[in-house]
Amino acid sequence: MGGKPPTRLCWLRALAPSARRAPHQHTPLPPCGGHPRNAPKLASFNPSYEGFFCFQIAFFHDFTLTTNAMSHISGFHRLSIDKRRQALLAISSEDTLSDLLVENTNDIMPALDRMSENVVGAFCQPLSVLTSVSVNALSRPVALVTEEPSVVAAANAASALFERCGGVRAHYCQPVTSAQIVLVTDDPMQAMDFSARLACMRDKWLYIANASDPGLIAAGGGAFDISFECMNRAGFKSTFIVGTLDVHTVDVMGANAVNTMAEAVLSAIEREFLLATPHSGVERLMAILTNASPGRIVQATISLPFSALDQYKKNVPGQRLAQKLEYASQLALVCPQRAVTHNKGILNGIFAAAAPLAQDTRAIAASAIDFACQSGTHKPLAVWQIHENALQGILTMPIVAGYVGGTTHATPAIAAAFELAHIHSYEDLCGVLTAIGLAQNFAALAALVTEGIQAGHMKLHARKSN
Ligand code: MEV
Repeated sequence: MGGKPPTRLCWLRALAPSARRAPHQHTPLPPCGGHPRNAPKLASFNPSYEGFFCFQIAFFHDFTLTTNAMSHISGFHRLSIDKRRQALLAISSEDTLSDLLVENTNDIMPALDRMSENVVGAFCQPLSVLTSVSVNALSRPVALVTEEPSVVAAANAASALFERCGGVRAHYCQPVTSAQIVLVTDDPMQAMDFSARLACMRDKWLYIANASDPGLIAAGGGAFDISFECMNRAGFKSTFIVGTLDVHTVDVMGANAVNTMAEAVLSAIEREFLLATPHSGVERLMAILTNASPGRIVQATISLPFSALDQYKKNVPGQRLAQKLEYASQLALVCPQRAVTHNKGILNGIFAAAAPLAQDTRAIAASAIDFACQSGTHKPLAVWQIHENALQGILTMPIVAGYVGGTTHATPAIAAAFELAHIHSYEDLCGVLTAIGLAQNFAALAALVTEGIQAGHMKLHARKSN
């Protein structure tokens, strides 16, 4: 606590049991096995959904496995703000909470100024906490930032239910981000010849990519593949030569590293080919990562026995609720307009959790939309299906996120949001984000097929105005 203003924590010190720190073990990852798009497919989760689940890909890994007690704090939402803060001390540390609950923004202005441009201040939004998000047998408090109260209430209720049912299991594949290195010519034959010559020099381009940002190699990742193809369209004069550089990004989101690598390769191609033959008719166009992220798929699953669902909605038996959830899920599968809104609900939860962790929510959105539309029409990212006496949910989507790098630890509050949720790796981060996305989807569908969205909202607002 050294160096912190003495007044900051008076509300916490009044009730300060020793903070609980969950044990954390890191399971080493097996080596990267190539790009997921080349990997064999897994069996689909449900044969009736096979069109959609053909996305499922091999070499998913189980996340870190640890166990701890449930961190649910009963009646948390009914406490005053001070009492909630005090209650959090039972499931987090005083240091983490004092950093998270920034009281004097002047202290962090230099860090905010470094984070962005034209900075004049800090912008406040409500910071909420879910007390128990259980992922791979580790129960974690998770900070949410959103202006939509029903998002927090819904995620809170569903996360508590999920925890009672054993929690979410999350699986991930080693994160791969790809970049595009693009040249253009008016001559399609020349494009094909050029592309073939570039492909022959694959090892050289990979060497240049890794030399331009050696940090990833040092961390066990780096550029591992590059391929070239030609693209054009009837009516267009231009043919594009598009190189795809695949990079294993380890714990970072990787935008900076991958863009640096792609630009280095493009400049090397320019030096090697274009400057030597200035009238070749081939021009450099651009180098930039693609937010299409099939190499970052994460799956979160939950199984909810009917008996546990009995208590979730008053006067709706668990089996009936499960049946209606299955209908709602099938509706999203057959109706693209519904799938868009279904997926918006999932992103509600993921963005709220991603915001205090300083993640690039626009990248998450771009890759999620791309993934949802892979079949040519918008499909739900999460589906629900009855299996024996339980409702099973599965969320499958790319998570473009980073545990280190970028602005992930730029202020003490951001670092504290990671600490609060026991996020110590990329896989922890993906597990937490997808668990909240799945909980959010469950809660939204459960409200829609029972009391309806307006009644849920009205109840919430009535509580707020009392
Ligand atoms: C509202 O922000 C989100 C929902 O519309 C999601 C859904 O319809 O599934 C409730």
